[in-house]
Amino acid sequence: MFREKFKDGIISARDFNREDIEYLLKKGHQMMDIKDSNILKGKILATLFFEPSTRTRLSFESAMLRLGGNIIGFHSGDVSSIKKGESLADTVRTVENYSDCIVIRHSREGSAKMAARFSKIPIINAGSGSKEHPTQALLDLFTIKEELGSLDGLNIGIMGDLKYGRTVHSLAILLSNFNIGLYFISPEELRMRNRYKDYLYHYRGFRFKELTDYRKILDNLDVLYMTRIQKERFADLEEYERVKNFYVFKQDDLAQTKDNFKLLHPLPRINEISTKIDSSEKAIYFKQTFYGLKMRQAILAEILKD
Ligand code: CP
Repeated sequence: MFREKFKDGIISARDFNREDIEYLLKKGHQMMDIKDSNILKGKILATLFFEPSTRTRLSFESAMLRLGGNIIGFHSGDVSSIKKGESLADTVRTVENYSDCIVIRHSREGSAKMAARFSKIPIINAGSGSKEHPTQALLDLFTIKEELGSLDGLNIGIMGDLKYGRTVHSLAILLSNFNIGLYFISPEELRMRNRYKDYLYHYRGFRFKELTDYRKILDNLDVLYMTRIQKERFADLEEYERVKNFYVFKQDDLAQTKDNFKLLHPLPRINEISTKIDSSEKAIYFKQTFYGLKMRQAILAEILKD
């Protein structure tokens, strides 16, 4: 069922229902101890990254190698023939002949969807402009499920740059499949865009709250998902300067949280979480990167295995 539905790849969190997510969370759990397998032997993954990445590209590549497959790709548009003026569509129609699946990150919104229109092989969206980053959201849910045992019944805050942060858009959409209390915490100028709020509220019938001061609800949260302010997406750098230090989560904040509280972050972190709390059991953002590897192993196995 899952394999048939996602045989053309993963483009948007909107395509996932609760059953799809729970299936992948189960598959991710089964991958926890698998680091040397042959299930994707003979398969080739192409990673086409037109924007910088550490976690997404390397975890997809590591996942592929750990499952016995091979990898090709590039980490910048500057080293591909896009630099000479080739279109993304022509790039995809070329790379599909060299590989079995393409993972793509591009600054343009809708880039993965467009790539999928031209591709005969599955496309996985690894970040499309400020719009979506669905596999990050899948690994975020996997992290929460593995750490807290369930998603239902939790109070979850998503805090920081909700306007430009693509991870939070996909995350909010996936979370709307569960029975949770969801809080969007941001400065006024970085609120979640109406297109996502309308989708959640009107299309999914999902309720959420918006606020600016996280201290008002911190002691009630099970999970806080911090994000960095996305400097590269601001047209006006003065606006970035005004909000760049708006939230800095520190030891005093952590002391206000529940015993079982978990602090997540998609990373990279700039200065929005004090490094002094990195050693706390509540701060699980580096563990989250490991869960990311496992979730991407599960995704690749489901999409690529014979
Ligand atoms: N979370 C995330 O997408 O990290 P990278 O930009 O390092 O891939």
